[in-house]
Amino acid sequence: MSCLPAHLQIPQDLRFVKPSKAFVRSYGDALRLPSEKVRRLEQFTETILNLIITNSRSTSREVPIELELRTDGASLSLKFLNRGLPIFERDLRSTDVAIDSEDTFEFVNLGPQGQAFVSVLPIDPTEHPDLEAPLPETNPEEIEVRLMGVLEVDELAKLFFRVYGYRYINDWVYFPEKIRRKLEAQDMISLVASSPAGRHVGHVALVRFNTSPVVYDLGLGVVDPGLKSKGLFKRLLSESMDLISRTPMDYCIFDMVTNHLISQREVFNYPACVMCLNVGVQGSTTQASLKKLGIGTDAEDMDRYSILMAVRLGVPHPFGETVTLPPNLGEALDFLLTPLGVRWVPSSRFSSIPRTGSYQTKLDSIQKSVFFDLEAPGLDAVTSLIDDWKYYIRLGNLYGAVDVPLDQPGLGSAYERLCRAGFFLAGLIPYRHTGRLALRLQCLGPTRVSWENIKIHGAQANQLLQLVRSDHERNSLI
Ligand SMILES: CC(C)(COP(=O)(O)OP(=O)(O)OC[C@H]1O[C@@H](n2cnc3c(N)ncnc32)[C@H](O)[C@@H]1OP(=O)(O)O)[C@@H](O)C(=O)NCCC(=O)NCCS
Repeated sequence: MSCLPAHLQIPQDLRFVKPSKAFVRSYGDALRLPSEKVRRLEQFTETILNLIITNSRSTSREVPIELELRTDGASLSLKFLNRGLPIFERDLRSTDVAIDSEDTFEFVNLGPQGQAFVSVLPIDPTEHPDLEAPLPETNPEEIEVRLMGVLEVDELAKLFFRVYGYRYINDWVYFPEKIRRKLEAQDMISLVASSPAGRHVGHVALVRFNTSPVVYDLGLGVVDPGLKSKGLFKRLLSESMDLISRTPMDYCIFDMVTNHLISQREVFNYPACVMCLNVGVQGSTTQASLKKLGIGTDAEDMDRYSILMAVRLGVPHPFGETVTLPPNLGEALDFLLTPLGVRWVPSSRFSSIPRTGSYQTKLDSIQKSVFFDLEAPGLDAVTSLIDDWKYYIRLGNLYGAVDVPLDQPGLGSAYERLCRAGFFLAGLIPYRHTGRLALRLQCLGPTRVSWENIKIHGAQANQLLQLVRSDHERNSLI
C-alpha cells in the first residue's frame, strides 16, 4: 500500500513556514511515522524554507516555492523546488541540513528548471499500514442478502468504487441520487449482500428496460474483493432468479462478461436462451481487472472485451411463434430461435430489398462503439450506413453493430451487403427491448481481440462462438 503524493505551493514569505511544517507533519502522521521522524521532517522544512526565503531578493519573490511529499512504501521523500534566486553549496554549508546520517540529503541543480532540495527518509513498512480500513473478518453466513432500500444508495456507490474504481460502464452508479430515483420509480430492483456492520459487500439488480412488454435486465453484479470466492455471488444470483420468477415480465436479459466464466456458469445453471456474442464491444480499460480483484489474470493480447447476451423467458412466446427468414440465415440461427420458441419459415427466393430505407445511429464514445439501427433495410440506407461506419472508424471508433429487424423485407440482401463490407454475425437481439427480434451484425476497427481468450460456458454459447468466429474469418477485411 502506498500513500498518494502530496503537493503544496507557497509564496516566498516566512509566514508560510509554520503552515508548511504542519502540512509535512500531516503527511508523516498519515503514514503513522514515529514522532522523531516527523520532527526531522519538520526541521528540514524549516531550514530549507528559511534558506530559500531569506536568500531571495525582491526580484525573485514573485516565484512560489513548491513542496512535494511522496512514498514508495520503503522510503519517504520530501522535495522543495526553488525557482527563485539560486542557492549554492556555500549557502548550504551555513545550515544544519544533512546532519542526520540516517537521512539522505540531495541538492539537484536543475538549471533553468530551478533547484531541488530533497530529503529521503527510510521507513519501516510496519510503520506504514494500509490506510484503507480493511474489511473486518466476516463470516459469510452472517451476511444477509435482501432487497436494497432507497436510503442505502450511498453504500452502493462505494461498493462499485471498490470493485471498479471509477471505470464502471453505467456511470450513474456513482450518483446516489440517480440510483435512488430509479429505485423510487421501480425501474430498478436491487438485491444487496450486507455485512453485520451494515457495509454493502455484494449487489445485483433487475433494471427495467421496457414497460410494454415488460423487460428487465439483470446486471450490476459485483462482490467486494475482500469477500471473494465465498459463494456470495452464487447466493445473489440464486435470490435474483427467485426475484425474476416472482416479478411479472415478458423476458429478462443477461449481459455477461467473457473475461471470466463465473457469471455465465451461475446464470446457465437456470434456464436461459443464448442470443448474441458482441465481440470486442467494450474497451478493456472499462472492465474490472481480474488481477486486481485477485480472481485471475487479464489477457494481454486483448484491447477489447466481448459480452455474451442471453434471455430468460417470462412468458411462453415473447418474440412470437414464427419468423420468415432467408434459408441461409434461418439454418444458421435455428439453434438460437428454437429455445426461444420461434420457428423459422423460408422466405421467397425472389424477395428483394427496397430502394431507400432508413437507419438511426447511436454513439457510445466511452466504449468507442457505434450502434446502427437499420429499422428499414433499403439499398441507399445500407450504402450510406457502410460509408458512415468507415468514417466512424477514421474518427477512432473500434466497434460497430447493425441491428436489422427480422420481420423487415430486404433482411437477406442487407445481410449479404453488410457481410461484403466486413460485418459478421453476432446473433439475435430483442429489437428495441420489444417483442420483435433483430439480427445483429458487427464489425471491428483496428484493434486486438484474442478469440482464444473469449471465455464461453455451455453448449449453446459455444456453438454461437464457433458461428461468430467462422463468420468473422469469412468476412473480415482486416
Ligand atoms: C465475478 C464476481 C461477481 C464473483 O463473486 P464471488 O462472490 O467471489 O463468487 P462466488 O464465490 O459466489 O463464486 C461463484 C462461482 O464461481 C467460482 N469462482 C469464484 N471465484 C473464482 C475464482 N477466483 N476462480 C475461479 N472460479 C471462481 C466459484 O467456485 C463458484 O463456482 P462453484 O459453485 O462451482 O464453486 C466478483 O469477482 C466480481 O465482483 N467481479 C467483478 C465484476 C464482475 O465481473 N461481475 C460480473 C459481471 S457479468
